Amino acid sequence: MSAENLAYAVVQVVHNFGAAAVVGGALAARWLASADVRRQRQLAWLVLAGWAAQAGSGALFGAISLHFYGQFPDIHGTAVAALRVKVACALAGFVIAALFLRRTDRWGEGARRRAWNLLAALAVVALAAAAFLRWFS
Ligand code: HEM
Repeated sequence: MSAENLAYAVVQVVHNFGAAAVVGGALAARWLASADVRRQRQLAWLVLAGWAAQAGSGALFGAISLHFYGQFPDIHGTAVAALRVKVACALAGFVIAALFLRRTDRWGEGARRRAWNLLAALAVVALAAAAFLRWFS
């Protein structure tokens, strides 16, 4: 078994579940738990962990490439733009989920709904950008 393939596969497992967490968590909080603030907080922890997992595992993809090839993946144009979109979404998503957890009690229902709308939009955009990164790499 190749160590490189194994490393990529393990990181990809984390990355895939992180993607599922940020997309599914935000959609569930927005549409299935819109009246349940306690459940929304639980989902906010899941989404926060998901964004952290995405940033961490995304960085590990680069680290694996550096380790086995001595350089980061050679990407250009659309792929670089897609990667930037994903990094920006991960940063914004992490900050918004953290703010949600700190300020849940001070935010009214409208603010909470807007936060989940934004988190869902960031997750969907990042997931779409992943397809462009994959096929323009
Ligand atoms: C700091 C943020 C991120 C970085 C640095 C990053 C980096 C990467 C890299 C290097 C790959 C491998 C690309 C390839 O196969 O050529 C990848 C794949 C992927 N990423 Fe990310 N990513 C980030 C965030 C996200 C987010 C937020 C999502 C989804 C919500 C996501 C979803 C995916 C998916 C689904 C794949 C697999 C694509 C495929 O092979 O079809 N990523 N990511």
